[in-house]
Amino acid sequence: MSALIIGGGGREHAIGWKLRQSRQSPELYFAPGNAGTAQIGTNIDRQSVRELTDFAKSKRIELTVVGPEAWLAAGIVDAFQAEKLPIFGPDKRCAQLESNKVFAKGFMKAYGVRTAPFESFADADTAKAYSDGKRFPMVIKASGLAAGKGVIIAQNPSEAKQAIDEIMTEKRFGEAGAEVVIEEFLEGDEISVLSIFNGAEIIPLRAAKDYKKIGAGETGPNTGGMGAIAPNPHFTPAVERAFETDVLQPTLKGLLSEGLLFSGIVFFGLMCTKKGIYLLEYNLRLGDPETQTLLPLLDADLLQIIRDATAGEHFTLSWKDRCACTVVLASGGYPESYPTGMEITGLDQVENTVFVAGAKAAGERLIASGGRVLNVTALGKDAAEAREKAYADVKKIRFKGSYYRSDIGG
Ligand code: AMP
Ligand code: GLY
Repeated sequence: MSALIIGGGGREHAIGWKLRQSRQSPELYFAPGNAGTAQIGTNIDRQSVRELTDFAKSKRIELTVVGPEAWLAAGIVDAFQAEKLPIFGPDKRCAQLESNKVFAKGFMKAYGVRTAPFESFADADTAKAYSDGKRFPMVIKASGLAAGKGVIIAQNPSEAKQAIDEIMTEKRFGEAGAEVVIEEFLEGDEISVLSIFNGAEIIPLRAAKDYKKIGAGETGPNTGGMGAIAPNPHFTPAVERAFETDVLQPTLKGLLSEGLLFSGIVFFGLMCTKKGIYLLEYNLRLGDPETQTLLPLLDADLLQIIRDATAGEHFTLSWKDRCACTVVLASGGYPESYPTGMEITGLDQVENTVFVAGAKAAGERLIASGGRVLNVTALGKDAAEAREKAYADVKKIRFKGSYYRSDIGG
């Protein structure tokens, strides 16, 4: 059995780590991978959909799992399917549920998925005229993919106009800003529910909580995610029931009715407010760092699950009765500019699981090469124990200028 994992972050290291535990002992390839994935498989350098398809054909890869959304939007699944190569993820049309917010919000509205009231615009002047006299704060989103940076929360009309200009006129996010969605601001607790879709059923994983901001207490700019915990304490049985009725079931109905059928991930980015649960967005890939938190809790053969989902078959998930906490170690300066090349030490002292996010090997040494460098995940009988164990390891790991949030799971 051979599998190819596309991507090179902590998420892809965690996917490989979990696939390796399968009874089918797969041979793993990563494109491009990192220093962590090199320990459990072979890193390959293929830069385009064409090169990856050729590689999968030549090695007779039996399963490909796609990490980053950009590959899905670029149509990697379509290319693999055209060659009858098994791949886990949505084709380009289905991937629009993540890559095109105008499309996604239209889908939510059409099928009664609970989401913030919104309007879509393809013209800056009309968008600005609309923003006048509305309630603030107001949320302005570039419709296309913008690496998590295309959402601006405007506090007043002049900020709204400035945001619309930046996105639509100055094209800060390129073509992703050709259209915008303007929606109501929702206040509450965010919840990440990742699920697996087999083309007929959506099966949720445990709910996770992502820590998006760089600073403790959710302060400062947004990042890719500075840590995560699971289960998410805000996902109570009542919230779970509301999620099923207001979000999951209408989503499934919409996917089936529209023929948006695929095997892959449906990641619900939720906001739990006083008025109920709302869907902020769909992602059609695993979350980073949620994956590094969730997969160590999964008490099942991930490879078999993905193969079953890809074959359109039913499967079940079982979970360890534990809590997980992941802390991200970043290079000082992230998410703005940051240094690389620092040597990382102390990993030989660590007792829990370390996923490599952005580091490469230089001989025997490990060298930071990205903004998010390492992810430490620990499990515990409760959230407090998981947190304590994760931080005990984080403190043993050293590199110049390293930074981590001190309040993950706190
Ligand atoms: P999205 O890409 O739509 O998930 O937005 C990215 C982030 O912006 C979310 O994770 C939230 O933190 C924030 N956000 C998005 N939409 C809203 C909203 N309607 N109200 C408040 N915050 C939002
Ligand atoms: N951690 C949020 C995401 O992967 O989109």
